[in-house]
Amino acid sequence: MITVVKDAKIDAIHQEEVEMLAQILALIEAEDIEAITPLFTKFLTHMQAHFTYEEGLMKEASYPMYTIHQAEHYKVLNEARYNLTLWKSSPDLWELREYFGEDFVAWIHQHIDAMDVPMIDFFEKGEA
Ligand SMILES: [Fe+2]
Ligand SMILES: [Fe+2]
Repeated sequence: MITVVKDAKIDAIHQEEVEMLAQILALIEAEDIEAITPLFTKFLTHMQAHFTYEEGLMKEASYPMYTIHQAEHYKVLNEARYNLTLWKSSPDLWELREYFGEDFVAWIHQHIDAMDVPMIDFFEKGEA
């Protein structure tokens, strides 16, 4: 279960992302290499829209943690892009399972708890 940040739109985005993640993990288990690439590409687009949306809200609210939060988004987007490139050049199910099933899962939970929750708190209360 992912932590609810109590913003309907952001919660829906997070929910979609964990559902896509579960689909990718299922495809990895099924060793469906053909189906993974388009879903991974779609996942990356989704991540990008997710981060752009949050960054827009942070900018609008002059959120003091904006730069740190955005830097985390950049880092994780770059990792995803790197892993997609790697996957396209030489598909390795074991590597991909490690990336999605361990690294990404751990990251998204940690990020929501440590960064998205305080961000929403700030939007609601107007203070960090
Ligand atoms: Fe988020
Ligand atoms: Fe975020």
